[in-house]
Formats: sequence, C-alpha cells, structure tokens
Amino acid sequence: MTANLIDTGRRLSEEKSPEPAYETAETSLYNADCLEIMNMIPDNRIDMIFADPPYNLSNGGISCQAGKMVSVNKGKWDRSEGFDNDMEFHEKWISECRRILKPEGTIWISGTNHSIYQCGFLLQKLRFHILNDIAWFKPNAAPNLACTTFAHSHETLLWARKDKKARHIFNYEKMKTGAFGEDKMKMPDKQMRSVWSIPTPAPNEKIFGKHPTQKPLSLLTRILLSSTNEGSLILDPFNGGGTTGVVAKIIGKRKFIGIEIEKEYIDLTIKRLNHINDLSGML
Ligand SMILES: C[S@@+](CC[C@H](N)C(=O)[O-])C[C@H]1O[C@@H](n2cnc3c(N)ncnc32)[C@H](O)[C@@H]1O
Repeated sequence: MTANLIDTGRRLSEEKSPEPAYETAETSLYNADCLEIMNMIPDNRIDMIFADPPYNLSNGGISCQAGKMVSVNKGKWDRSEGFDNDMEFHEKWISECRRILKPEGTIWISGTNHSIYQCGFLLQKLRFHILNDIAWFKPNAAPNLACTTFAHSHETLLWARKDKKARHIFNYEKMKTGAFGEDKMKMPDKQMRSVWSIPTPAPNEKIFGKHPTQKPLSLLTRILLSSTNEGSLILDPFNGGGTTGVVAKIIGKRKFIGIEIEKEYIDLTIKRLNHINDLSGML
C-alpha cells in the first residue's frame, strides 16, 4: 500500500488494503466500494466532500435525449433497492463522511427529488448544519415526454458543515466577483445567489468517454473555489467520471481522493486526468 493521502492506523492488515488504481502526490483513485475505503480514513481528516450518490431513479422509466425517446436507466448502480434499503445505505455513507470530516469541514450532496430528501433528512438527523440548498438550474434540460408533470430542469445541491460552531471555508469575494462558466443569472459584482444556471456538460467535456450523470466542469469549479483553499484535502466517494478530481487538478494546489465502484469509470477518470490540458481550456 503506497497511498500517501490515506495515512491511517485503521488498517487491520496490509493484505486487506486495496491499492489505489491511480496515484500521484495530489490524487488517489480507488476502484472499490466507498464504505470500504472511507473506513480506512482516520477521524477528522478531510476538508471537503463532494458526494453525488446514486439517484435511485433507474427503475425502467423513459426520458428524452437529443429529441429521441431513451431509457432513464443509468446502470445497475442507480437502481432503487426499496426505500428502507436506500435509506440505510445513505445513512451509512453520510455517517462515515461525518466521522472523517474535520470539524470545520463541509459536505456537498447533489441529487434529484428521488434521493435528495432522504439525504437532507439524514444530514439533519446526523447533526450537520445545513448552510445552503443550491438549485442548479439546467437551461438546456430535456423536455418531459409524458407531458404529465413540469419538465425536470434542476438538481439540488445541499451544502452543510460538520460542526455548527466551527469556522468553515467560504470564499465570499471570489464568489461575488467571479462568474465561472456561462451563468446568465450571475450579475457581475453582486453576491452569488443560491440559484445557479449552468448547462449540462457540452460534448467537448466528453471527448475521452462519458458517464451517464457526468457533472459540468464549471459546476465543480464553482463548488471547489467557494469551499476549499490551497492545501485542502477533498474526497469524492462517488467519483463517477472524475469531474471533481479533474477540476481539483485544473485549479491546482489541492489534494484529492476519489472512490468509484465501476472500473470503466475509473478508467475514464484516469484518461481525463492524463489529458488535463485538453480539458482545462474549457473553464
Ligand atoms: C451520480 S454518479 C457520479 C457522477 C460524477 N459526479 C461525475 O461527474 O461523473 C454516482 C457514481 O457512484 C458510483 N457508485 C455507486 N455506488 C457506489 C459505492 N458504494 N461506492 C463507490 N462508488 C459507487 C456509480 O458507479 C456512479 O459512477
């Protein structure tokens, strides 16, 4: 085991310790279950967590993509196991996040109505202090083919800190003066508000392959610049195509641990990290 970012006394034996699938001085990627790897991280170690857990919405529905009817199924990882089992899983990983966050550390959780209320309830149950619920508005969202509800056009991002009394990082001035991507709702030199208008990732963000729920680089740029500083250690327990780690590398001077259960998405992340110069121009 050579991981330098998870320096831990919690490991029981070297044999049991998974090797990182990718490792540099700043980045460690693990192809494993997030509960297994988080269990190796000591208490109070992480500065910021960005978590984009399964939405539990891949249960046979339909959606629209480029004008065509497509299945909403994202993969086996996104199937609901029933309310109680989904809730139990969310409680396990959010509890682990609480243990490994520094007292002043913060967690972002992203989701749709299928999962975000469960996660929000658990944040409150586990004594996090919610700082914001951001509405990420997608101006290019797909239409609702069934025409039976409003078109789903946003995701919610909950931002919470571990300890209400500790001083968390919020780079207020940077958020006030910066734009970070094409957001027609952000007025120059006005306070950043809690509704963010950011398009879903453009095809040129997927030149190395794609993940079905890949987040835009500009969304993660805003998140990382607002709530981390140079030297911060960032964890993404549901790494997917690696957007968080890619942005951490582009911004620089941050350390990143990503955990992803599917090997194909670890491979995609490694490709993106190895071609960072092709992606950094997109911010
Ligand atoms: C919503 S996606 C994350 C997308 C990511 N934010 C991006 O920009 O590409 C969730 C990811 O979590 C992974 N996953 C699901 N359960 C997991 C678990 N127990 N441990 C680690 N990864 C898991 C899935 O394979 C999927 O790639």
